[in-house]
Amino acid sequence: MDSSKKIVILISGNGSNAQAIIEACNENRIHGDVVAVISNKANAYGLTRAESFSIPAITIEHNKFDSRESFDESLMQIIEGYAPDLIVLAGFMRILTPMFVHQYRGKMLNIHPSLLPKYPGLNTHQRAIDAGDEKHGSSVHFVTEELDGGPVILKSVVPVLSNDTSETLAKRVAKQEWLIYPLVISWFCENKLNFCKNNVILNKKQISRCGLIYEEL
Ligand code: GAR
Repeated sequence: MDSSKKIVILISGNGSNAQAIIEACNENRIHGDVVAVISNKANAYGLTRAESFSIPAITIEHNKFDSRESFDESLMQIIEGYAPDLIVLAGFMRILTPMFVHQYRGKMLNIHPSLLPKYPGLNTHQRAIDAGDEKHGSSVHFVTEELDGGPVILKSVVPVLSNDTSETLAKRVAKQEWLIYPLVISWFCENKLNFCKNNVILNKKQISRCGLIYEEL
């Protein structure tokens, strides 16, 4: 097999997805290593999680910069110091500049807590409840210039129960995120997953823009 891939994870908060990915690397479910966890918030609990695995945990606070461009440039400099093969956005709550997205096109993944293209942006769980949806979930996609709009690779679907609150639904979605994100990353690290002309290629075959459904794999 090819050499182990270097993964940089960007977070803003809790970091439960980052932990799931680190554990999957440690258990060889991902043929890769998380070489750094970077947060734009100093109090992100995910930094503590990274340190507990002896992974460099770096803070770069966006509010210390006078523009989105200057923040992204400095973030890129830090990232480039690790020469990563893959950038993983795991609850990184920042809109990225076109320059940043272009730099990592085809090697940057995001997870979003909705069945994309439904509910890009914030408050996805409450929006699914308010809309009376019977199903909700999470989507892993390649990052493009469009916010939460890049082609989807894998989705996980959960039921919305009649007594759900945004919190109970978020917990159900999160448990699935901890499965699907490491799985997609493992495909990337095994060179099974590519991004070509805005399409997702898995095992040399183009998949639908809506992505695969985890339960059907
Ligand atoms: C996850 O649910 C992820 O889908 C969401 O933030 C949460 C981070 O949780 N991401 C977004 O909303 C991005 N648009 P975590 O910090 O515990 O991994």
